Amino acid sequence: MKYNILGNNGPKVSNICLGTWPIGGGMGKIEQKDAINAIHASIDNGVNFLDTAQMYFDSENILGKALKGKKENLVLASKLSSWRNTSDIEKALENSLRNLQTDFIDLYQIHSWQDSIPMEETITKLLDLRSKGYFKYLGVSNFSSKQIKAMNEFSGNQIISSQPHFSILFRHSEIEIIPESNKLGIGSIVYSPIARGLLSGKYKPGHIFDKNDARYNHHTFQKNQMERGIRIYNILSEWIGDNNYNETQLSIAWTLHTNGVTSAICGSKNPEQAVSNAKAGCINLTQEDISEINKLIKDISVYELITPKRFSANQPHTHP
Ligand SMILES: NC(=O)c1ccc[n+]([C@@H]2O[C@H](COP(=O)([O-])OP(=O)(O)OC[C@H]3O[C@@H](n4cnc5c(N)ncnc54)[C@H](OP(=O)(O)O)[C@@H]3O)[C@@H](O)[C@H]2O)c1
Repeated sequence: MKYNILGNNGPKVSNICLGTWPIGGGMGKIEQKDAINAIHASIDNGVNFLDTAQMYFDSENILGKALKGKKENLVLASKLSSWRNTSDIEKALENSLRNLQTDFIDLYQIHSWQDSIPMEETITKLLDLRSKGYFKYLGVSNFSSKQIKAMNEFSGNQIISSQPHFSILFRHSEIEIIPESNKLGIGSIVYSPIARGLLSGKYKPGHIFDKNDARYNHHTFQKNQMERGIRIYNILSEWIGDNNYNETQLSIAWTLHTNGVTSAICGSKNPEQAVSNAKAGCINLTQEDISEINKLIKDISVYELITPKRFSANQPHTHP
C-alpha cells in the first residue's frame, strides 16, 4: 500500500480507499458479517481511507459498528447526498455523525452538484459547520472541472478533493476533471475503478442482476459498454502474462497511474475482494507498461460523459 497527501494540505491517505456502497446493500443483499469482515480486512491490509455517503443505505451504520474503537489513524469520508435548504445540511451531517458513531468526519463531500439551492449557500453553510468541528476537510464529487474551479475559488481554496467516475473503461474524467483539479492542488479520488465488477470478467452479455442491485438497468451493463468492458478485460488478461496479479487488480492499478489520482475507491463485498483490492495498491507499472496498455485499448474505452445527471432532493436513492 502507498500513502499520499490528499490535495495540497489534506490527510495522508492510502491509495486504495474502501468504497462502501456495496457494503450498504447497494449492489444486492449482503450479509452484515461479510460487510464487517470486508472493512476489517481492508484495514488489516493497509487501507486507512473509507468512503461512504448519506444515501448508501445501511453503509454508515455498518461502518460505525465495524470501526468502534478502531477509528484512530483512519480517514473517514462521507457525503451530503440530498438537501433542499441549509437546515437539511446540518441535519444530514448530524445523522451521519450519529450513524458513524464519531464526533467528526475527516472528509465531507458534496455528493453532486444540485440546483435546488445555490451551491454558494451550500458551501457557506458547510464551512460554518466545519468551523464548529463537524468535519475537517471539504470535498466535492461528480462536479465538472468548471464547477470545481468556481466553487474552490468561492470557498477560498478550501476544497481538497474531487471524486469523479473513472476507470480504464470510462475515461471521460482524464480529459479535464482530473488534470484541472491537479493544477488547483485538489486530489482526485476516483470511483468505480472496476466498472462496478465488469472489469473482473465475471459478467457476460445477457447477465441479469437482481432488482435490488443498482446494476440492474445500469448504463455500465448496457450492450455497448458491456462489450467494450469485456474486450478490455480480454486484452488485460493477455497483457498480464507472467505478472503476479489479476485483471481486476490491473484495472485498479491502471487508474492509480494517472497523474492527479490520489486514490482509487474500490467497492468490496467480502474479505477476499477487500484483500485483493488492497493489494492492487502495491502494483508498480512503468510508463512503458501504461503506454503499451493504452495503445491496446485506445479505441475501446469510452470518453464521453455517460453518467446521467444524478439524484435530486426528490430522488435520494438514484445512484449514478
Ligand atoms: N460519488 C459517487 O457518485 C459514487 C458513485 C459510485 C461509487 N462511488 C464510490 O466508489 C466506490 C466504488 O465504486 P463501485 O462500488 O460503484 O464500483 P467498483 O469498485 O468498480 O466495483 C465494485 C463491485 O465489483 C465487484 N468486485 C469488487 N472487488 C472485486 C474483486 N477483487 N474481484 C471481483 N469482483 C470484485 C463487487 O461486486 P460483485 O462481486 O457483486 O460483482 C463490487 O460490489 C463505491 O462503493 C462508493 O464508495 C461513488
